[in-house]
Amino acid sequence: METNDTRRRVFSGVQPTGNVHLGNYLGAFRNWVALQERYETIYCIVDLHGMTVPYDPDDYRRVRLETAKVLLAIGVDPDRSLFYLQSQVPQHAELAWILGTITPTGALNRMTQYKDKLASGAPANLGLYSYPVLMAADILLFRAELVPVGEDQKQHLELTRDLAERFNHRFGETFPVPDPLIPETAARVMSLTDPTSKMSKSDPSEKSRILLLDSDEAILKKVKAAVTDSEPTVRYDTEAKPGISNLLEIMAACTGRSIDDLVAEYHDAGYGRFKEAVAEAIIETIAPIRTAYRRLDDREVARILAKGALDARSRAEALQAEVRAATGIDAF
Ligand code: AMP
Ligand code: TRP
Repeated sequence: METNDTRRRVFSGVQPTGNVHLGNYLGAFRNWVALQERYETIYCIVDLHGMTVPYDPDDYRRVRLETAKVLLAIGVDPDRSLFYLQSQVPQHAELAWILGTITPTGALNRMTQYKDKLASGAPANLGLYSYPVLMAADILLFRAELVPVGEDQKQHLELTRDLAERFNHRFGETFPVPDPLIPETAARVMSLTDPTSKMSKSDPSEKSRILLLDSDEAILKKVKAAVTDSEPTVRYDTEAKPGISNLLEIMAACTGRSIDDLVAEYHDAGYGRFKEAVAEAIIETIAPIRTAYRRLDDREVARILAKGALDARSRAEALQAEVRAATGIDAF
């Protein structure tokens, strides 16, 4: 990592989960890799956030490693990005506490993700409630200016901006106010079994999503079984033909070709042939990731994460000292 880097700083985080799918890749992680070319990038596996819903510790250990390996396989490059596990850098939690002291509970009560999680059965606990404060701490800890996130995280980023401003106002200019970075080409990948809802890791149906580690056969099978409609022309119409439109979008995102171009080629090809072409495009995109994943050695990955945490801690310590001084809790 360069230390006197003048590029704009990007921070993003992902919760450790199994089931990393095509939607995650095309909608988010592919962009993380691309951002490494132009920005100073910091990518964090936010395992403290992941603890806010019930989990099994042994399973979690495995999933944290798997998430790290998937990101490395995709192309997150530890020589160009600061890459580490949130839990290994205690400054995240300290800053979250401090920001918590200036967070109005009314703002947390309005968080739609919190309400959605409760509605879907998550137990109401303080960690889940203050999740957005920890997310603000992640971003501000490195004075990041740009935060690549999906639509669903915009409300959390608004709170981050608000907390940066409140802190600066109360304790003196300390944090830049970060902006969301919504990628121009972000794909919104829909479920293969219900093309009106997003492809999701939590859908009970395995057939609803393509996993990044799926075999070629599994990909072909899932695409062939994808829900479509009975009017047999391939054209883009998200209202009347959500299934076909989703497959067109996926193929466009995988090949870099335009939807119009694909429609021109497959309009009368029949769904069978079109689906085979979509599956092939997905396989070409995903197979290299699977290969890279298999080549990774777990001990080497552990070493990369340890080195990342060491770098992250030493960078976070500088800000920690400043924040402690500004807030009057420095050592005598
Ligand atoms: P999640 O799997 O919900 O933790 O999301 C991780 C990242 O992937 C976030 O940046 C999401 O916005 C993105 N993401 C999740 N599902 C999709 C999808 N179906 N299409 C596009 N992006 C997605
Ligand atoms: N809440 C984000 C999500 O669910 C994950 C996250 C935690 C994050 N901290 C962050 C994203 C900081 C961007 C920046 O997707």
